[in-house]
Amino acid sequence: MTFLHTLMSEKKVAIVTGSSSGIGFEISLMLARNGFITYATMRDLQKSSTLRSIADKENIPLTCVQLDVTNEKSVKQAIETIVNESHNVDVLVNNAGYGLSGALEDLLINEIKLQFDTNFFGLIRATQAVLPIMRNQRSGIIVNISSGLGRFGIATSSAYASSKFAIEGLTESISYELEPFGIRTILVEPGIIKTNFIKAAVLGQKSTDSNSPYFQFMSNMDDGMKKLIESGESPEYVARVVLDAINDSKPKLRYLAGKDVEHIMEIKNKVSDEDFHNMIKNMST
Ligand SMILES: NC(=O)c1ccc[n+]([C@@H]2O[C@H](COP(=O)([O-])OP(=O)(O)OC[C@H]3O[C@@H](n4cnc5c(N)ncnc54)[C@H](OP(=O)(O)O)[C@@H]3O)[C@@H](O)[C@H]2O)c1
Repeated sequence: MTFLHTLMSEKKVAIVTGSSSGIGFEISLMLARNGFITYATMRDLQKSSTLRSIADKENIPLTCVQLDVTNEKSVKQAIETIVNESHNVDVLVNNAGYGLSGALEDLLINEIKLQFDTNFFGLIRATQAVLPIMRNQRSGIIVNISSGLGRFGIATSSAYASSKFAIEGLTESISYELEPFGIRTILVEPGIIKTNFIKAAVLGQKSTDSNSPYFQFMSNMDDGMKKLIESGESPEYVARVVLDAINDSKPKLRYLAGKDVEHIMEIKNKVSDEDFHNMIKNMST
């Protein structure tokens, strides 16, 4: 074993998907600043210059690697490159994702399939690529970035919310399969966070048609979200929750990230489904 290998085997190795901006960008920095040998992956490496220059300036262990979660070959190649270099993978943060907006009737099946291909199947591709390594090590942590919308739905977000509900069901289920191999699974559920999320959101083609019966509803929700995101929590806040969850000596399955989502979930846990439904309805009209 070379000196570099010895040094690397003592340090924890983390992989983050969707590190070009927002929450993934900050998680990558947070982990590297806290001693993790961090592979900040992104589908377009041209977006890596800011992250690279911060890492160089601070002399922290962060490397950018190309990884598009919708492309099986890209996922496999990225994980292979990382494992050839690092030999182990201690943490995978499945963060890559985007929002699809539109009333269900206005969404094309293909738009919904693309939403799931990134948010849900993308997470599965990355997870399946690291599992053999973690299983052989008999250790590892998988952090799945879900959302408050993985716990409750809102109008015009049915595709996005259902992709996050799917992540919740998947994470709960695999926790039973992976625990015997020493692998922990964590859900981090952010509230509204000030990132590129709204700018990057895809509007269902038919949802922007002013003849849509849902058009007014859609524009109200869209305006509301644009305002809300401006007062959202910082992505560093979520990155801190992720780091604390990874280091937690009393591990939990779920970690909320944001005062707004903590408040809503506190109410949801106390009231009936019908009362909760009325509360969300009043908030969105
Ligand atoms: N912001 C919020 O209010 C909020 C709330 C709850 C949960 N979340 C979740 O947090 C995660 C990060 O979102 P964000 O708020 O940080 O938004 P963001 O700033 O738009 O970041 C999204 C990241 O995902 C990447 N991405 C999208 N498709 C990808 C693909 N096919 N392969 C690899 N990377 C891909 C984007 O890369 P490009 O730059 O190449 O597009 C970008 O790096 C998402 O899973 C989102 O659902 C966000």
